[in-house]
Amino acid sequence: MNILLCNGKGGTGKTTLTVLLAHALAEAGKKVAVLDRDPQGTATKWLNGCESKKVTLYDHTSKHDAVFIDTPPRLDTLKAALASCSVAVIVCSPSPADIWTTRDTVEAIRPHLPGKARLRILFNGVLTNTVLARELPDIAKRIGVKAFSTTISRRQCYQHAALLGWQALDLAAREEMFKAALEIVTE
Ligand SMILES: Nc1ncnc2c1ncn2[C@@H]1O[C@H](COP(=O)(O)OP(=O)(O)O)[C@@H](O)[C@H]1O
Ligand SMILES: [Mg+2]
Repeated sequence: MNILLCNGKGGTGKTTLTVLLAHALAEAGKKVAVLDRDPQGTATKWLNGCESKKVTLYDHTSKHDAVFIDTPPRLDTLKAALASCSVAVIVCSPSPADIWTTRDTVEAIRPHLPGKARLRILFNGVLTNTVLARELPDIAKRIGVKAFSTTISRRQCYQHAALLGWQALDLAAREEMFKAALEIVTE
């Protein structure tokens, strides 16, 4: 299955979550690849520098259980990738100020998704026990797209992961990634 992560805005955590969610699923025993559609090539550089080779860069000659697709903030170049995906995940900050950008993203990508594909929001950078964290279901409702019940917290180890890989993640972070990956493949 192809899982595409997107947002019309940069810096929301698309690349970080592409690589870490792919590792979570690989740690759970699946054969997982990353397809880097961002010309900046950050996910490619990250995976090339990874000690663990559990997640590979996409190669069309190999079979995978899941392919995570990282994308640039430019949505107009993604039509083909959208047409082949089973799940489109909008990686979104928990900020009410980003509701409009995310709505624009939804409008831009929805027409290109296959009828059977699921479209979901994944909130990233959430500070637990804050008023904003409690408002996330309302924000999702305003955007008009179902959000995964798992949200990704703001954690320093996610920044360290760019250098240290999956090993940088503490237990709580790993658990969060496993839960999110499971929701993505099943719900
Ligand atoms: N949940 C998080 N907690 C802490 N830092 C994060 C989190 N998600 C992303 N970041 C950091 O935010 C920055 C932007 O993330 P990145 O994945 O490159 O975004 P995008 O690919 O959407 O442009 C990076 O420095 C990354 O380490
Ligand atoms: Mg990126």
